[in-house]
This record gives sequence, C-alpha cells and structure tokens, in this order.
Amino acid sequence: MFQYSCLNPISQIGIDRFDENYKKVDDMNAADAILVRSASMHDMELPENLCAVARAGAGYNNIPLDKCAEHGIVVFNTPGANANGVREMVISGMLLAARDIVGGIEWVKDNAEDDNISKTMEKAKKDFAGTELKDKKLGVIGLGAIGVLVSNVARHFGMEIYGVDPYLSVNNALSLSRDVTVLKTYEELYQICDYITVHVPYTSDTEGMLNKEAFDQMKDGVVILNFARDLLVNDKDMSEALKSGKVKRYVTDFPNPEVVKMPNVIATPHLGASTEESEDNCAVMAVEQIREYLENGNIINSVNFPNCNAGVCNTEGRITVAHKNIPKMLTQFTNVFSEVGINIDHMTNKSRGEYSYCVFDIDAASSKELYDKLNAINGVLKVRIVK
Ligand code: MLT
Repeated sequence: MFQYSCLNPISQIGIDRFDENYKKVDDMNAADAILVRSASMHDMELPENLCAVARAGAGYNNIPLDKCAEHGIVVFNTPGANANGVREMVISGMLLAARDIVGGIEWVKDNAEDDNISKTMEKAKKDFAGTELKDKKLGVIGLGAIGVLVSNVARHFGMEIYGVDPYLSVNNALSLSRDVTVLKTYEELYQICDYITVHVPYTSDTEGMLNKEAFDQMKDGVVILNFARDLLVNDKDMSEALKSGKVKRYVTDFPNPEVVKMPNVIATPHLGASTEESEDNCAVMAVEQIREYLENGNIINSVNFPNCNAGVCNTEGRITVAHKNIPKMLTQFTNVFSEVGINIDHMTNKSRGEYSYCVFDIDAASSKELYDKLNAINGVLKVRIVK
C-alpha cells in the first residue's frame, strides 16, 4: 500500500487514477508521494519516507529541487498537460494588445445611459482602434510544449514567427511548424520582433532576463507577453520601458502591486492554465508519473533527476538507487551485489548534472541486507526496493 498527500486541491479525475493500493493521508510525513500545485515547499521539512513530489503544472519554482534531490526525492512536473490552456491565453493577450478592446468595453459600460450611443460610438471608436496581427513578427522565447503550440497557431494569423531555445528537444523540434524560424540568440529575436512572448521556467539563470539591456535591443513599441513567471521580468526596467513607449503594452498573467500601477499593462490573475481541461490533464499526468515511479521505479518528466525507463520488471527483483553523479559509484554497487550473491540481469543508469539514478533488475527478490549495504555507500541518496 502506498500513501499520498495533496498540498493543494487536485482534480478528482487525476486522483481517480490511484487504485485500491493507494491511500490519501493528511499527514505529509506519512506520505510516499506528494501532489502539489502552488503551495511553496521551500521551507518545509522533507519527510524521511517521501520518494516523489509531482507538480500538477509546468512551473516548479515552488519546490526546492536540489534539497529534494539531496534526499533522493524525485520531483516531476507535467509538461504539455496545460499547454493548450496557456496557448489560448497568449493568443487572447496578443489580440487584446493589438487593439484597445478592454478600453472599448469600458467605454461602452461608461456610456450605458447614453440613448444616442450607437451614434456617439462612431466618433469615440478611433481612440480604441489598433493594428492587426497579420504580417507582424512574433518572437517566442522558449520552445517547450507551450512555446511550440503558440508558434504553430500564431502562423494562422499571418504572423512571421521566430523562436529561440538553447535547450530545444528533439520532440519539440519535430512538433514545430516548418514556418517557424529558429534563431540562435535572444539578441536576434529582440531586434526583429513586434510581439515577444516568454515561455521559459523561472530559474536563477532566467531571473530578470527581460530587463533594460534586453528592452534596449528591441523595436520601439514592442508588445511583451508574460504567461510564464513574474520574476522573468525586471519590474523596474519594465516600468521605465512602458513610460518611454519602448514597450507599447505589457500583457502579464502575474500582477503585483507595482505592475498593476504601470501604464499600458493588461494583467490577468494567473489564468493561463486555469481551465477545467488543463487542471484535469495535469492531475492525470502527475498521478500516472507517481504511479510509474512508485510501482516500477521508472522516472518520466523529472525536473531534478534524469528520466529513466527500465520498463516493467520481468525478473525476481528490482531495486533502485538515487545517487550522486560521482566516480566509482557503479563499481561499489556491483561489489555489493557480488557480496550478497545476487546476480544482476539488467542495469540502467542515467545521469543529469550532479545526480544519477540506477535501476537493477536482479535474479532474486531484493533483501534487507542488499538494501542496507547499498544505502551505506557514501554518495547514495535513496535506495528503493521495487520488487
Ligand atoms: C504552470 O506552471 O503550469 C502554470 O503557471 C499554471 C500553474 O501554476 O498551475
């Protein structure tokens, strides 16, 4: 029996994917796995038993990835599961920025008592006129699941699309329309685009990437869209850029006390992925990834450990080891199997940065002795008996 805990409400359609071998517990200290949406885990003590954390969403800046990795806790996100919801918001944002639709709606409300409104509006409307998206250049920073969907649909508005992604995956490259021009540098994109939308995770490397230095390279009157994370944009520099007209409009899903006071901001309350469909998709994906990890030891869509798929275990036993990516670990592991007289039928080892993960399929059921010996090796973060 596995136990899981939810730090936020998680869509029932996802929870229903847990079978009778799973029990929900309120005490996270008793959980093998945690499901989370926006709750911050940075100041939490990580329970000894905890094996996995799944973020039902794309971003993961509310989870201490390295701290989890040091405890051998695998953190997952759900890339792509809410991408369509975000894509639709980005397109809405571009349309709202191209014409003053919001201003026009406000004008109609303010003139609701005017019996002559159908005439007066014909004069007033010039204040809300705008431009079309057709023939404009859209720059997409980050060609992950969301960036690809945004790029592919924006072509149909007759826009020219330019993308940059230093980490573009083969899968995403294959999903990207051939009409999208992939550039090598942000600088090239900044110089040519009329609309720029950002779709990268918030990390120490991307913090404040849209700042004065970046704005200075952009066209005058550029529109910036941020449906990724607030701290990707330097608010002080954005405020200056809006005042000077360098940035014509800033469309953001992350209002804060400074941003809401800036001129020419269109702000929504983090609605990007808040659709029924997105929440369901994220919950289903998060639960399936947790189950695959707890039941088979396979890692899909981790953000702190390598992905590792050893398939279903067809041997007598399977034991997994999360460990530091340092020399001589595998030699020490295989020595332990020799000492306890267990033969390894199959072994998969993957590394990602400072961390590695190993799945051993063995010809005997995993024993307590084997577990203890592997666990005692310096650099081992967590050992799990899967079978
Ligand atoms: C995401 O990270 O997937 C979106 O911002 C939505 C969310 O935070 O749940």
